[in-house]
Amino acid sequence: MQILRDRIMKDGTVIGDGVLKVDNFLTHQVDPVLMQQIGDHFAEIFKDEKITKVVTIEASGIAPAVFTGLSMGVPAIFARKSKSLTMNEELLTAEVYSFTKQVTSHISISQKFLSKDDRVLIIDDFLANGQAALGLSELCHQAGATVVGIGIMIEKSFQDGRQLLIDEGYRVESLARVASLENNEVKFVEE
Ligand code: G4P
Repeated sequence: MQILRDRIMKDGTVIGDGVLKVDNFLTHQVDPVLMQQIGDHFAEIFKDEKITKVVTIEASGIAPAVFTGLSMGVPAIFARKSKSLTMNEELLTAEVYSFTKQVTSHISISQKFLSKDDRVLIIDDFLANGQAALGLSELCHQAGATVVGIGIMIEKSFQDGRQLLIDEGYRVESLARVASLENNEVKFVEE
């Protein structure tokens, strides 16, 4: 998606250890015009998949998931990383290990929001090692739902996540694929 690549070049910053900072338009302060275009783009890519729910994980996945749900006309659900006070019903739960942060989160979604009839699109901001997307797909499988695809805003193609998800049989669509983040420079995968 050229406008996302252009914006990363203009406003993204490479910080140490292969990390891309995009908090001024995607992950902290959100540009709603760009986010709506991103939602429309995901909706176009997956338009033939009869999707009934968009599923993501808090926090930075929520904005793209909501705009994708808006464009598709379906609800967006975000998995929580900690249990909410009002979550007193049955939960779908999975463990997600973050290699970046070296912590395990217990993610959950209320069982009532997903069923075996759902066709789910998983959306997330970054794909690095793929553990968040795998954890989300595990929640969907517990509900008997079908995961029809995974949509990512920024894929770090120099990490293992994409291959892992493809090996698991998922369709992965990333809007910006980053080949390297070295010497303060972003290089994209040639497409
Ligand atoms: P994985 O899910 O693909 O295995 O990724 P990993 O554990 O390595 O990443 C953990 C967190 O760090 C995720 O956010 C992910 O979105 C984020 N992340 C990974 N690489 C980058 C990067 O280069 N830049 C930025 N800005 N974020 C990155 P999270 O812990 O779920 O946090 P949040 O969504 O609450 O912000």
